Amino acid sequence: MRYAHITGWGKYVPERIMSNDDISKLVDTTDAWIRERTGIGERHVAGVDDTTASLSINAAIAALDGAGLVGAQIDLVIVATSTPEHFFPSTASIVQDALGASHAGAFDLSAACSGFVYALSLGADAIKAGSASAVLVIGAETMSRVTNWKDRNTCVLFGDGAGAVVLQASDRPGGVLSTMLRSDGSGSELLIVPAGGSKMPITPDVLAQDLQCIQMNGREVFRFATRAIDRSLREVVHRAGWTLQQLDLIVPHQANIRIIEAAARSLGIPMERFFCNVQRYGNTSAASIPIALTEAVANGRLRANDRVAMVGFGAGLTWAAAAVEWSEGRALSRSKRTISRIGYGLANMRSRARRIYRRAEDRIFGVEQPERTPAPIRQLPAKPQPNGNGHPVLPPSGASNGKIASHTASQPKLEP
Ligand code: COA
Repeated sequence: MRYAHITGWGKYVPERIMSNDDISKLVDTTDAWIRERTGIGERHVAGVDDTTASLSINAAIAALDGAGLVGAQIDLVIVATSTPEHFFPSTASIVQDALGASHAGAFDLSAACSGFVYALSLGADAIKAGSASAVLVIGAETMSRVTNWKDRNTCVLFGDGAGAVVLQASDRPGGVLSTMLRSDGSGSELLIVPAGGSKMPITPDVLAQDLQCIQMNGREVFRFATRAIDRSLREVVHRAGWTLQQLDLIVPHQANIRIIEAAARSLGIPMERFFCNVQRYGNTSAASIPIALTEAVANGRLRANDRVAMVGFGAGLTWAAAAVEWSEGRALSRSKRTISRIGYGLANMRSRARRIYRRAEDRIFGVEQPERTPAPIRQLPAKPQPNGNGHPVLPPSGASNGKIASHTASQPKLEP
């Protein structure tokens, strides 16, 4: 039987720290209010050069070093994020390229603050099924890019950062023993970035109303979160064949210390067994659990053979949990670390070389153009028609004056 062990872990946060006092200069709030209602004292915020991919790459290198692997040994890269680099390509593909993970598949996973546990579950399943032997699971966010810095209800809560783990196959029992994933889309409006997707494209009106930023019903989310932690921990621990009392450590999503305290009370587990670092990072969404795991190991709170449960919850609504028997890291030796750094430099050169080669190939051999066929003329409505959401549905590109001028052979032909 194959098991999926966590053999490496790492984190990376942007250098810039924003304190509660800094935020009180932007909105009507105080350090005392934020600490009392959330437990947050400060958060890290991306600088102009930090992106979700750059944070991911740094966290991933730390996790690979810890696992004693280099990028080329990875079979799959999953980046859990709600603030990707672009709609497409995926942030994971950019990370895969930077790490020289030339044999790996790569994709992004969107499940908001539950994303890391979702990704861990998928990665572990890929290993157990035999389709991968080494999987890089990253949670990374630049929440500051979708934060409304005029809204005191939300801007005090979030922060930026990335955390990563490496999953590796082994015959030795342990690792990720059980997971559970859940969703309830009826609560989708409770925590949402309304605009920027297909439902509400960005327009000047949208920007004027800050609809491209986070909106939240804090009280409802709070109630949901405490219930989600309680239920999912009980279920995942039961599935692993453990009891709650046997857990050495619980690493919950770091959203608000009061949510964690309320869940601890309802589970009857002392707060000392919960790992909390929300004080220094705020809510880093999908990044919060892998950042917390990395710090828990560094602080001696999580050791090999410990029973750890992690639980995520957030927009969707989504929630997810995992029960893991913690494994030893397999740190790279000094010489191997030097070689791995050379490898990342070479990956960068390889990426550039491939871009140059692609351009040169186009010049030398020419780009094959799809064959153009004469198109039938078809009448279309002259004006954009509003759809159900009030957004105009524009005629297909190439259409003007209510007529399609031409279309390429690759497009379906309209019958006259
Ligand atoms: N500073 C000062 N006052 C603030 C404030 C801030 N940053 N944010 C809100 N307030 C005000 C509100 O406007 C309200 O004022 P009013 O009574 O005059 O209307 C008052 O504080 C109380 O608001 P309320 O919503 O009852 O506060 P709360 O105790 O529920 O705390 C949250 C608000 C957001 C901290 C809390 O609801 C929460 O943490 N919810 C979960 C959010 C979360 O974790 N989301 C991510 C999940 S992944």
